[in-house]
Amino acid sequence: MLEGKNIVLGVCGSIAAYKSALLVRLLVKAGANIQVVMTPDATNFITPLTLSTLSKNPAHVNYFKADTGEWNNHVELGLWADMLIIAPASANTLAKMANGLCDNLLLATYLSAKCPVYFAPAMDLDMWLHPATRANVAKLQSFGNTLIPPGNGELASGLYGEGRMAEPDEIVSFLTSTLKKKQLLANQNIVVTAGPTYEAIDPVRFIGNHSSGKMGFAIADELAAMGANVTLITGPTAQISKQPSVKRIDITSAAEMLTICQSNFAEAKACIMSAAVADYTPAHVAQQKIKKQDGNLNIELKKTTDILKTLGEQKTKDQVLVGFALETNNEEENAISKLQRKNLDFIVLNSLNDAGAGFQKDTNKITIIDRNLQKTVFDLKTKDAVAQDICLKVAQLINQ
Ligand code: CTP
Repeated sequence: MLEGKNIVLGVCGSIAAYKSALLVRLLVKAGANIQVVMTPDATNFITPLTLSTLSKNPAHVNYFKADTGEWNNHVELGLWADMLIIAPASANTLAKMANGLCDNLLLATYLSAKCPVYFAPAMDLDMWLHPATRANVAKLQSFGNTLIPPGNGELASGLYGEGRMAEPDEIVSFLTSTLKKKQLLANQNIVVTAGPTYEAIDPVRFIGNHSSGKMGFAIADELAAMGANVTLITGPTAQISKQPSVKRIDITSAAEMLTICQSNFAEAKACIMSAAVADYTPAHVAQQKIKKQDGNLNIELKKTTDILKTLGEQKTKDQVLVGFALETNNEEENAISKLQRKNLDFIVLNSLNDAGAGFQKDTNKITIIDRNLQKTVFDLKTKDAVAQDICLKVAQLINQ
C-alpha cells in the first residue's frame, strides 16, 4: 500500500524521536519516498544526519539552508506529499497545529499540505490527559487529521500509562490498513439519512421525535473512511461529522427529506435510511401562532410519503437499499415485513427492549436481516462499532 507514496515525516522534540529512525527505515523498506522535516527541538533528540541517511534525502529543519542560503520551500513539500505523518507529535506541536501557528518549517508544511495528515502523539500521561490536549486532538480530528493512538506502558518520566508513541511497526500497519479501508468503497456515491424530522404545526411548534442522529452520523463517517463520496441528509441535530469529506444537507421536514433523497438517489450506489422520519404531519400548518383556548385542541394529521418505500420502488438491481426498524414487540416479524414491503437489501433491527439500544444512547444492539432472510445478531457495541458492521455489509453487497 505504501509503495511509491511520497511521505513527509514530521519529527518533533520528544524522546520518542529515537523511534523515528526505525519508522523511516520501515517506510523506505515498504517502498515509500521519504522527506523528513524536523522541529528545531527534535534535533536535540536525534540528528538530522541520521534521518537524512536513512531517508536518502536531506532532513529539513530550518526555512533556510545554513550553508547555501537556499530556501526550504514548505509549499512545495506540502504539495509533493501524498501523506504527512507527524511522529512523534509533541503536545506543543499538536497545540500549534490546532491553532494554526506557524513558527517553524514543520508547521508551515502542515499548513500548506493538501494531503491526508496522520499524527502519532508522544507525551507524558498527564499531558496527554490534560483537557487542553484533549481539545487540541479533537480539533485536529475535526480538520480531518487522523490520530494514530498512543500506547500504554512505561513512559520516559517513569510513570505508567497512556502517552507512549505507537511503535514504528504499529504505525506502518495503521497506515496500511487505513489505506486498504479507503479502497473498499472508493468513489462510490452513497446517501445516508440521519436524525429526526420536525413537522410544523404553526410558526412556533412542531411534532418531532427523540432521534439524536448519532447512528446516521457514525455510518456517514465510516463510509467516508471507506473512501465513499457520502451525502448526509439530516434532520435537526447537534451532531457534527468527523470526516470533513461528508457532504451534509440539512432538512427539517419529511417532505424536504423526500425531495432531497429523490434528487440524490439516481446517482447513488447505496442509500442507508437511518433517519427517524415522521409518519404523520399536520394536515394544515397555521400561518399564525395558535392561541390557547378553553377546551382541547385537535390537530388533524395526514400521512407522509414513505421515503424508503418510494426509493425501493425506484431502485435498480445494482443499488443497495438499507432501512432501519426500531421495534418494541414482534421485532423480527415487523422488521421482515418492512424489509419485504420496502424492497430492501437488508434491514437493521433494534429493539427498545434491549438495554443500551435506541435514541440518544452512544451504544446500540442490532440484528441485520437480509433479503434471503439471513439473520446476524450482533452484541451491544458503541454506535461507531455498529456503524462498522453495517458499512462492511454494504461494502460486501456493492463489491460482490
Ligand atoms: N421511513 C421513511 N419514510 C417514512 C417513514 C419511515 O423512509 N415516512 C424509513 C425510516 O428511515 C426507516 C424505516 O423507514 O429506515 C422505518 O420503517 P417504518 O416502520 O415505516 O417506520 P416506523 O415509523 O417505525 O413505522 P411503524 O410505526 O409502522 O413501526
